[in-house]
Amino acid sequence: MILVTGASGTVGGAVAGRLAAAGFPLRLIARDPRRIAVGGPGVEAAGADFSDPAALARAFQGAERAFIATNDPLRPEQDENLLAAAARAGVKHVVRLSALTVTDADADDLITRWHRDCERRLEASGLLWTFVRPRSFMSNTLGWARSLVDGVVRAPFGSARVACVDPRDVAEVAVRALTEPGHEGRAYSVTGPAAISSAEQAQQLAETLGRRLRFEEISVDEAHRDLARRYPRPVADALAQHLCRRGANAKCQVERTVELVTGRPAACFRTWARDHAAAFRLTPVSQSEPVPEGS
Ligand SMILES: NC(=O)c1ccc[n+]([C@@H]2O[C@H](COP(=O)([O-])OP(=O)(O)OC[C@H]3O[C@@H](n4cnc5c(N)ncnc54)[C@H](OP(=O)(O)O)[C@@H]3O)[C@@H](O)[C@H]2O)c1
Repeated sequence: MILVTGASGTVGGAVAGRLAAAGFPLRLIARDPRRIAVGGPGVEAAGADFSDPAALARAFQGAERAFIATNDPLRPEQDENLLAAAARAGVKHVVRLSALTVTDADADDLITRWHRDCERRLEASGLLWTFVRPRSFMSNTLGWARSLVDGVVRAPFGSARVACVDPRDVAEVAVRALTEPGHEGRAYSVTGPAAISSAEQAQQLAETLGRRLRFEEISVDEAHRDLARRYPRPVADALAQHLCRRGANAKCQVERTVELVTGRPAACFRTWARDHAAAFRLTPVSQSEPVPEGS
C-alpha cells in the first residue's frame, strides 16, 4: 500500500489520481478526508493531522511507500512526526516533495532552510528516499484570477524569467519514483520546458482566454505588503526573498528531468493555461489565493 499525504492539495491530489488510475492500493490523507477528490477500488481516504502522532501512526500502518508533502515551515515538528510514523510503520521508501530553492547557494530564507532541514532529516533517517525538487508551479498564477476581473495582472520583476513547472509533471515524477525501481537516493530538479517571465505568462494567458490583459509591474515592497496580509509575517518575508531571487534571475535554469524520468517532454505554460482556463473565468475568491511557493 502507498500512503499519500497532502491528498487534497495540488501535487498530492495529482499523485493520488495517477496512482489510483494505475490500480495501486492507496491510503490518502488530509485533515478532512471529505476534501479528497480521488476514490475508487483499493483507495481509502483517512483524516490525520500532521500534528497528531497517534493519528499518523494509524494512517501509516501497513504502508510500504509514502509520498510526503507538507506546507508549513513554521511547524517543522509536523515533518518530524511524519518521519517518525513512517519509520515506526516500517515504510521502506519515502518520496518527499521539496523545492529547487534548496540548491540555490544564495537562498537562505525560512522556506529554503526548512526544506533543507527536512531533506537532511530524511537522509539521516535510514529510510530510502527520493527528493522531488520543483521550480515554481505554473498554478501560482491562479493568484492572479481576482485582478483579472479588472483586466490587470500585477507582479514584481515582470521581465525576470522562471523555468516554472506544471504541477502535474511534478506529480508524474513523484509517481515514477514511487512505483519504479532505481529512484532511491536521487534528488530530482523538476522544471518546465522553458523559462518565461510573468509578463509573458500574462500575455499567453490573455491569448488563451481571448481577452486583453494589461501587465503592471509592482515593487517588491508592494508584493511583500500583499503577502503579509495573507501569510504569517515570517512566511511573507521568506516569499518576498524568493521574489528577489527571481528578480536576480536565479530561477531560470531549465532541466530535462521530466523528459528523462517520464519519457515525455514537460508541459509548457500555454498547455497548463489552456487546461485551467475555466479557473480564471470563474474562480471564486477563496480559490484565487496563491500558495506558498518556496521554489
Ligand atoms: N507553489 C510552488 O510554486 C512550489 C514550488 C516548489 C515547491 N513547493 C512546495 O510544495 C509544497 C506544497 O505542495 P502543494 O502546493 O501541492 O500543497 P497544497 O496544495 O498547499 O496542499 C497542502 C496539502 O497538505 C495538507 N495539509 C496541510 N496541513 C496539514 C496538516 N496539518 N495535517 C494534514 N494535512 C495537512 C492539505 O490538506 P487539508 O488542508 O485538506 O488538510 C493539502 O492536502 C510546499 O512544501 C512548497 O514549499 C511549492
